[in-house]
Amino acid sequence: MNHIEYGPLAGIIGVWKGNSGTDVSPEPSVGTEKTPYTETLTCEAIGDVINAKKQHLWVVRYHQVVRRKSDDEVFHDQVGYWIWDADRQQVIQSLTIPRAVCVLAGGTASTELDGTTHIDVTAKAGDPHWGIVQSPFMDSNAKTTAYRHQLTVKDDLLTYSQSTLLDIYGKSFDHTDGNTLLRSDHS
Ligand code: HEM
Repeated sequence: MNHIEYGPLAGIIGVWKGNSGTDVSPEPSVGTEKTPYTETLTCEAIGDVINAKKQHLWVVRYHQVVRRKSDDEVFHDQVGYWIWDADRQQVIQSLTIPRAVCVLAGGTASTELDGTTHIDVTAKAGDPHWGIVQSPFMDSNAKTTAYRHQLTVKDDLLTYSQSTLLDIYGKSFDHTDGNTLLRSDHS
């Protein structure tokens, strides 16, 4: 299928699987917990949207399911959209996680001569555009203050690393995640 309208997002469409993920998250008793994980990332091309008659967006909807390697339990579930605005050369990621936190991150993409695509999006709490919205509880107890997601895709290989800055247990904590995935199916 030709997905040229999706710009830099064309390469991420499909079902991806990876088993070399590492999560670093806050744990009050030991400070930091490192957890190896496996992951399935499903990215579906869902077409285009027009805003105010003049902004043309192409949209990929995704679902990320992450399982702890030690017991195969799902310990992170995330849904969202990757959005491409060709006129503004902007990549947008909107995501929500079931802790009552939503992120709208914006950024750019670039493609090397060999076809490797890099995507880099960020959001900050308080930013009026690329921001983070969270419940009153999370705002007071486990506030997400900044988010950055960097993704590289070439053919059937996708890698990402992300940093989610949290204000939790009285300090700032860099909650990080990263994985390498192989495409197991085109959708
Ligand atoms: C692969 C991606 C991710 C994984 C595997 C993951 C996993 C985890 C784990 C294991 C914890 C500790 C939970 C606990 O101690 O009970 C945690 C905490 C947290 N995560 Fe993530 N996370 C991911 C992505 C994100 C993202 C994208 C956000 C927000 C945008 C986020 C926000 C939080 C917050 C606010 C907490 C603090 C809650 C707490 O520890 O009580 N996480 N995450």
